[in-house]
Amino acid sequence: MVTGGAGYIGAHIVKSLTESGQGVVAFDDLSTGAARKVPDGVPFVEASVLDAVAVEKAIRANDVTGVVHMAAKKAVGESVERPLYYYRENVDGLLSLLEAMDATGIKKMVYSSSAATFGMPDSNDPLTEDYVCQPINPYGETKLIGEWLMRDVATAIGLDWVSLRYFNVAGAGGPDLGDTGVFNLIPMVFRGLSMGKNPQVFGSDYPTPDGSCIRDYIHVTDLADAHVAAVKRLEQGAASEIYNVGRGQGVSVIEVMDAVRAATGLGFTHDLVERRAGDPARLVASADKIRSELDWSAKHDLSEMVSSAWEAWQAHPPT
Ligand code: WQD
Repeated sequence: MVTGGAGYIGAHIVKSLTESGQGVVAFDDLSTGAARKVPDGVPFVEASVLDAVAVEKAIRANDVTGVVHMAAKKAVGESVERPLYYYRENVDGLLSLLEAMDATGIKKMVYSSSAATFGMPDSNDPLTEDYVCQPINPYGETKLIGEWLMRDVATAIGLDWVSLRYFNVAGAGGPDLGDTGVFNLIPMVFRGLSMGKNPQVFGSDYPTPDGSCIRDYIHVTDLADAHVAAVKRLEQGAASEIYNVGRGQGVSVIEVMDAVRAATGLGFTHDLVERRAGDPARLVASADKIRSELDWSAKHDLSEMVSSAWEAWQAHPPT
């Protein structure tokens, strides 16, 4: 069962799991997802993970054997403004899900975590999974607490879990699967362009080659395939593992602006503005562990991320 299975990333996971031959049920409250994203033939349950009765019912009715847990809120800025909402949705939601899994004897979980668990790392090296986690916003805190919760449940009553720490997700697996939430760089650039405004670079005085922040962008279809690899790992036996999911390559904000110009053919100017609070200069994954243990590596590059995102944006411009 994929919670959040009608969301931007969840829908790609449902698609990849189905294509890999897994039976899947999508579970989503449609607060940010869209039922149109659930493929024909895939059972869909419209409910919240906070409703443990609904979760238990969905598990029993669909012979669920494991859960890919995507249902969560992930806008960093919103989490700072609404910590109670984020702790409710992300921590209580996971708690409710784990209780329903315990009540139904389900012991396998792939968990959507985040690079936001690292906070503002003081390192220019790619981050390994054992790098100290010091989240600096409620979103990152809720994701780290989720990992602690699964670890404690595994110790107490048994749970096989794999946590995937996403770096910066972008792109689309098709024109109908784009990210309709405008919370991250690439959709925010598209929104500026669609409004006739210059996209903004938040800070150009960082200690990086061109002064703008560096991130590790990962195509959403590659990320979905990492979940398929994690599901297969859990089918092989006991696990309690954390994996970074990134390309291991840093790309600056200004380089993303150049990639958008190339993909869209729009010769726009970007504006250099003040830094955004809470942004680390550099967040790049070491993807060595997932590559060696799950035989997974990213296959798509930045231009494919931007061009697929642009195609999806044009097909379904967010309202
Ligand atoms: C990327 C860079 C901005 C908009 C997110 C979330 C979360 C997590 C990791 C999954 C930053 C800059 C942005 C703009 C800009 N993923 N920027 N102009 O902050 O790295 O973190 O990804 O859990 O989704 O934590 O992503 O896309 O907001 O910003 O210059 O108009 O682009 O300053 O350096 P971020 P982002």
